[in-house]
Amino acid sequence: MDELNDLARLEREALSALQTATEQASLDAWFGRYLGRKGAVTLAVRRVGSLPKEDRPAYGQAVNQLRKRLEAALAQQGETIKEAALAAEMETGAFDPTLPGRLPNVGRVHLSNRTLREIYDIFRQLGFQIYDAPEVESDEYNFELLNIPAGHPARDMWDTFYTTTPGYLLRTQTSPGQIWAMREYAPEPIRVILPGKCYRYEQVTARSEMMFHQVEGLVVGENITMADLKGTIVAFVRQMFGQERKLRFRFSHFPFTEPSVEVDMDCILCGGKGCRVCKYTGWLEIMGAGMVHPTVLRNAGYDPEHYSGFAFGMGPERIAMMKHGIDDIRYFFSNDVRFLSQF
Ligand code: DAH
Repeated sequence: MDELNDLARLEREALSALQTATEQASLDAWFGRYLGRKGAVTLAVRRVGSLPKEDRPAYGQAVNQLRKRLEAALAQQGETIKEAALAAEMETGAFDPTLPGRLPNVGRVHLSNRTLREIYDIFRQLGFQIYDAPEVESDEYNFELLNIPAGHPARDMWDTFYTTTPGYLLRTQTSPGQIWAMREYAPEPIRVILPGKCYRYEQVTARSEMMFHQVEGLVVGENITMADLKGTIVAFVRQMFGQERKLRFRFSHFPFTEPSVEVDMDCILCGGKGCRVCKYTGWLEIMGAGMVHPTVLRNAGYDPEHYSGFAFGMGPERIAMMKHGIDDIRYFFSNDVRFLSQF
């Protein structure tokens, strides 16, 4: 069959033409001449229709294989050209393999979460479990069961986001988690921390955000006293801020604890001498705490005649601010990478 000889000639011609192509533009031209829509190989494929029936299979197979070989040769020649170009670049010094590599962007854990994890680690060592409670709460859990009845002036301590469903709100504090935990475990003893987001309908300032985190702590059992509260908080603060820290417990008021205290730590910046950060008092307030109010224990299923407990609540953003000397809480959630990437 003459046509098969034509194919062999075509292949020889194409391969020798390919050898002379030493840049991408001539490869493209070569492709058009042989493999493109009007290329010689494409025309040769079409020729199959004009052959006598018995010759068609052999010819078809031959021309297909020819096309495959030429495609492979083209790819190979492309590689050769690229390697030659790279070698030439190395030769002239245009490519410097000793330059430092390009670093990929590496993400990091947000400072709030990092601080939360530090807090978890410390309380884990003290035998606390983490308990997860809802962010959308009922008025009953966020206030009533915590001994804050409707109309009680103590409600003014929490400016609240209400939902369109009557009786439901965004929790203003993690304290309602105490009720969830106690109702699940009563009358067993419990030792939990309740971390999570809280929401307050407040003017956003350097000291207050509409959304922030709290970590609540709760211990309930027999013979739990104020000494347990103090020991636990001292152990936590010294692990978090350093063994030399001094603490001060001031009497205060929260509706769900009796007695209630606020806990101050000597200012880590000035060591208690007085500076801008501690407003020249020498002390930084780090949390509220107290002995769980008997009414709250009863509401959650514990008999206050037999059980007692203590609770505390702190803001991890505030903890991080003290630890890292950050003077504005708005940095945490405004998502400026220049701030976030420092931690
Ligand atoms: N829930 C309080 C607040 O958001 C903080 C608090 C104070 C929590 C005393 C407690 C506590 O558990 O005992 O202001």
